[in-house]
Amino acid sequence: MTSKRAVVVGVGHYLPERVVPNSEFEATLDTSDAWIKSRSGIERRHFAAEGQTTSDLATRAARAALASAGLQPDDLDAIVLATSTADLTFPSAATMVQAELGMTGGFAFDVQAVCAGFVYALANANALILSGQVQRVLVIGAETFSRIMDWTDRSTCVLFGDGAGALILEAQGGTGANSDRGVLSVDLNSDGRHRDILYVDGGVSTQTTGYLRMQGKEVFRHAVEKLAATANTAMNKIGMTSDQVDWVVPHQANIRIIQGTAKKLGLPMERVVVTVQDHGNTSAASIPLALSVGVQSGQIKQGDVVVTEAIGGGLAWGAVVLRW
Ligand code: ACO
Repeated sequence: MTSKRAVVVGVGHYLPERVVPNSEFEATLDTSDAWIKSRSGIERRHFAAEGQTTSDLATRAARAALASAGLQPDDLDAIVLATSTADLTFPSAATMVQAELGMTGGFAFDVQAVCAGFVYALANANALILSGQVQRVLVIGAETFSRIMDWTDRSTCVLFGDGAGALILEAQGGTGANSDRGVLSVDLNSDGRHRDILYVDGGVSTQTTGYLRMQGKEVFRHAVEKLAATANTAMNKIGMTSDQVDWVVPHQANIRIIQGTAKKLGLPMERVVVTVQDHGNTSAASIPLALSVGVQSGQIKQGDVVVTEAIGGGLAWGAVVLRW
């Protein structure tokens, strides 16, 4: 049987220049480097410069992904950009990236599923390829969460960072078997009943920007269970088991969630890509950032089976299994 696959042909990322170590929060908050490190695994994060927007970060990550693929902007048919912190209410950050890249054809749109945004974007891009609508899609996760932090709330503002990651998916022929390169399986979920445990208390309809609010313990409680379940469901759909997985690339929110999920999946931490110590939680950008770092560091190689999983506000969560 022949079938079409959405295969990764390029990956890249961009992090703003300003690196903020945990110790910087000690001056203004009742917190410590030791607390932040031990409760979250975070040691530092990057913050965008004044005036630097999500589409700026996204464009830089996009250029890096195009360079790694040896492609030009006009080789792309579409851009799918995952973000909850777009520059403006509209137009989409994706169309801003399209213009910045000088891409004159195709189409571009944003996806909003908070920290699960990149998994949702990947699923959408895969569906566009499998339905024959596009040959090549640029999939970006980009955020400036520093813009929605309440700097007086120590339980949230020390956890998040800014950044962007991107990959390019290309339609290629496959056999339909798990030995194919490309996206092999997708599982998406949401449950709006939990919207009050993680949200921003402002928005267009309320004519405010608002700040991120989180009941950390509650989110934590849902996270490990739901992340392991969605990763297992995505693997079960294609008859794959965790011993066939080379790398888990999880949403980077908290090292204890990452460890707990890996344990539930029966995977040693040696097979998990971890960047939370350097990036903090960059929401929809965290998985493409970790994928790019994982490739650059020589961890993820062509042919490896990679499982990505994420959960965020909504709650929205999901997983994608792909062969790199
Ligand atoms: N420094 C010092 N103490 C702090 C800090 C801080 N920065 N923040 C909170 N504390 C205090 C609390 O006030 C509390 O004090 P109390 O016992 O006197 O009330 C104490 O530390 C313990 O707080 P907990 O909430 O019990 O700490 P916990 O171990 O649960 O860790 C954390 C908190 C890191 C937020 C954790 O719950 C977590 O990671 N939750 C999940 C976050 C997540 O995964 N988000 C993903 C989605 S993000 C998205 O979608 C945008």
